[in-house]
Amino acid sequence: MLATTSTLSSTASQLTPLSSLSPNPFSVKFSFTFRENKNRIAVPTSLKSQRCQLSALPALRVSASSQSAPTSVEASKVSALPSEMKAWVYGEYGGVDVLKFDTKVAVPELLEDQVLVKVVAAALNPVDFKRRQGKFQNTDSPLPTVPGYDVAGVVVKVGSKVKDFKEGDEVYGDINEKALEGPKKSGSLAEYTAVEERLLALKPKNLDFVQAAALPLAIETAYEGLERTGFSAGKSLLVLNGAGGVGSLVIQLAKHVFGASRVAATSSTGKLELLKSLGADLAIDYTKENFEELPEKFDVVYDAIGQCDKAVKVVKEGGSVVALTGAVTPPGFRFVVTSNGAVLKKLNPYLESGKVKAVIDPKGPFPFSKLVEAFSYLETNRATGKVVIHPIQ
Ligand SMILES: NC(=O)c1ccc[n+]([C@@H]2O[C@H](COP(=O)([O-])OP(=O)(O)OC[C@H]3O[C@@H](n4cnc5c(N)ncnc54)[C@H](OP(=O)(O)O)[C@@H]3O)[C@@H](O)[C@H]2O)c1
Repeated sequence: MLATTSTLSSTASQLTPLSSLSPNPFSVKFSFTFRENKNRIAVPTSLKSQRCQLSALPALRVSASSQSAPTSVEASKVSALPSEMKAWVYGEYGGVDVLKFDTKVAVPELLEDQVLVKVVAAALNPVDFKRRQGKFQNTDSPLPTVPGYDVAGVVVKVGSKVKDFKEGDEVYGDINEKALEGPKKSGSLAEYTAVEERLLALKPKNLDFVQAAALPLAIETAYEGLERTGFSAGKSLLVLNGAGGVGSLVIQLAKHVFGASRVAATSSTGKLELLKSLGADLAIDYTKENFEELPEKFDVVYDAIGQCDKAVKVVKEGGSVVALTGAVTPPGFRFVVTSNGAVLKKLNPYLESGKVKAVIDPKGPFPFSKLVEAFSYLETNRATGKVVIHPIQ
C-alpha cells in the first residue's frame, strides 16, 4: 500500500494554493433544514418533498459554523482522569446484538507518540460493522473490541514524545492508521480513546464536534482515492453513490479543491438535489437511469458502491476507475484508506472557508445510548452523509 504522505506532496501543486485562500470564518450556522430562514441554505426541493420519508427530523445538516458546540466547554472541564470508562464493546463477531454497553472498560494506556482524547463525538463507518461482522477477522486485533474509527474531542493527556498537541486542544481524526490491519482494540465509541498524534489535526475552528467527527475517515478516503487516480483540474468525474459518507465528500473535493471541470453523481430520487448542492453538475437517478448506458464518458469514475463492472464502461480510454468495495474489474483498482492527520491539516482551510462541508444524516446525531439503533440505520445502506454519535456520556 502506498503511503498517503508520498502522494500529498505530489498533488500540492494541483490544489488551490492555501495561501490564496482568504480567511472566511462563517458568522452564521449553515444547514439544510425544513425550517428555512435567511441564515440557512435553502432546502433542496426534493428533500422537502421527502419530509415524510426523512421522518420528523429537524435537519439535513450540511454545516460550517463558527459556533462551537456547547460540549466543547463541558469537554474541556475534564479534571482527574478515571481508570475506567463507559464504552460499547463486543466480545464475539456478529450482528448489532453483540454490541454491549459497559461502564467499566479500562481507559486505554498511552504510548509515547499518542494523546488521550476525551471523546465528544464519534461517527460510524461501514468498516465498523463489516469488522464487527467478522469480515476482516484475519487481520483484525483480538476480541474484545471497542469499535469506532472517527473521533472529535479534547486532548486530556499527551505521551512523552508528542510534539504537536497539548492538553485542551480540540482535535479530530481517524484513530486507525490502517483500516483493516490490526485496528485498535480500544476505538472511539468510548469516553476516551488513545491516538497517535500523526493521525490527528486540530479541529477546524468553525466546526462543532459533531461536524468534525463526521469527516475524518470519509474525507481521507475521498481525498486519497482522487489522488490515486491522478485527478487534477479540468478533469471530469462520475461518483457512484454521491450521497453516502465518502461520495458526498468526493463531489465536494473534486469540484472545490481539485478543480474538476464536470462532476456527475448517482443517488436515488430524493437525494438528487443534495448532490447538486454539493457541486454535482449532473445528478443521475439510479432508480430511473442506467448510468453505464449514458453517452457521456468520464476521465475518472469513483465507485463508492461496488459497481466496478459497470463503472469501467463509462471511463474514457486511458482514464481511471477507483473502487472502494466489491469486485474489481480492470482497469479499475482498489485501495484501503490510510489515516493521516496531514490530509486533514491540508484540507482544514477548505473546511474553515466553508468550501467543503460535513454532511450529517438528519436522523442523527444519535446519543451514545442509541448506538445499536445508529448501527442498524447505517446498515440499511440508506444513510445520507454521516451517522454521528453525540453526546458521548
Ligand atoms: N476502501 C476503503 O478504504 C473504504 C473507505 C471508506 C468506505 N469504503 C466502503 O465504501 C462504501 C461506501 O462507504 P460510505 O461510508 O460512503 O457508505 P454509506 O454512507 O453507508 O452509503 C450510503 C449511501 O449509499 C447509497 N446507495 C445505496 N445503493 C446505491 C446505489 N445502487 N447507487 C448509488 N448509491 C446507492 C444510499 O443512497 P440512496 O438512499 O440514494 O440509495 C446512501 O445514501 C462502503 O462499502 C464502505 O465500506 C471503503
